[in-house]
Amino acid sequence: MKHTVLRHIHQIATPIGQTARRGPQMKQLRLIEDGAIWIAGDKIRMVDSDSTVIAALPDLPEIHWVDAKNKCAIPGFVDAHTHFLFAGTRAQEFDERLAGVAYLDLLAKGGGICSTMQAVREASAEELFQQGKETLQEMLQFGITTLEGKSGYGLNEPDELKQLAVMKRLDQEQPITILRTYLGAHAVPPEYAKNSNGYVDFIRENMLPQIEERALADYVDVFCEKGVFNLAQSRAILERAKELGFSLKLHADEMTSIGGAGLACELNALSADHLLSISHEDIHRLADSNTIAVLLPATAFCMRRPYAPARQLIQQGAAVALASDFNPGSCYTYSTALLFALSVIQMQMTTAEVLTGMTLNGAAALGKAAEIGSLEAGKQADILLLNAPDYRYLAYKTGVNLVENVFKGGVACELPHHRPC
Ligand code: NIG
Ligand code: FE
Repeated sequence: MKHTVLRHIHQIATPIGQTARRGPQMKQLRLIEDGAIWIAGDKIRMVDSDSTVIAALPDLPEIHWVDAKNKCAIPGFVDAHTHFLFAGTRAQEFDERLAGVAYLDLLAKGGGICSTMQAVREASAEELFQQGKETLQEMLQFGITTLEGKSGYGLNEPDELKQLAVMKRLDQEQPITILRTYLGAHAVPPEYAKNSNGYVDFIRENMLPQIEERALADYVDVFCEKGVFNLAQSRAILERAKELGFSLKLHADEMTSIGGAGLACELNALSADHLLSISHEDIHRLADSNTIAVLLPATAFCMRRPYAPARQLIQQGAAVALASDFNPGSCYTYSTALLFALSVIQMQMTTAEVLTGMTLNGAAALGKAAEIGSLEAGKQADILLLNAPDYRYLAYKTGVNLVENVFKGGVACELPHHRPC
């Protein structure tokens, strides 16, 4: 087994635990000055002060030493909501939206998600794979070591399966762990333009059993929104998915408040995502449930919409995670530096809360908090070294990518623009 020790880390900053941190727990970090991390194989063996770790090391035939002087170590970022795999671009639409055209109006006219759908249907699996691989290389440079990727740009049987299969291959052929979500209910495809209930039945009867049988996805999600999938349709899809053993996620209360967050709680979904328009009542329901509130402030920013009520959610005791929502339409960015800045400045979260939201709570939103999301013995060695002495620089050095080194499963990743260690 390979042993690596990161030594003299100026500061180690990490949330602690195997489950989501809620409410006031979100700002509690373990901080160690002049720390060390001992990695054995792909797991963390010990995290403590440098002298304690060195004293505990047994006689090992070979140790790879890494000097982390002047650096800060944090857990790898877990991006729990992305639509990273697509073809084509929608720069033209972004320009139209800047000029005032509404996002849902573009979708209603056959643009938006449906224009990406067209491009994805036309792309071969190999083309999607290559484009996805390039995107993931860039995401890795921002310190993302695990992400969730959604289908939802095929919207028919072969192309939804194609998207999920490409993500499965990408998971195996590059360092970032990719967990897959079936989001067939992302938009009503043209084939069902006048028959959205027919599309819901098709998802329930044909797609979900097939995806379960082929183990192509871990989670099922629905875009529950006025003019897209209503509450009854969302419920019908999610209940069937639950019967088949999938974990549930929901695009809830993004533009309008139609009760998506409440539905997510009722069905004990893993997460309710977006929540820009969540009702006061549903803030309380979410806080009293096990469902994680996944907030996506970069989407609110790009859509010029009011931000989700992060402070109220935390005050009521909810577990908040933060994710990019990277997609070609509403939010064409995976910058963890931008996500950090928006979370502290626009949503008034503290730096410690944001760090928890982007690591351990992101992991919890994927049901993986026992394996990743914090720096402690037994967890996977997904570790970032920052070009900064203190985790608070993540907010203070606004919008700057501080990620200098990425260890994924104990292996140092090659980052083209960064210095090796
Ligand atoms: O989360 N809201 C629905 N889905 C994405 C946007 C996808 C797209 O526009 O392509 C979102 O914002
Ligand atoms: Fe989304």
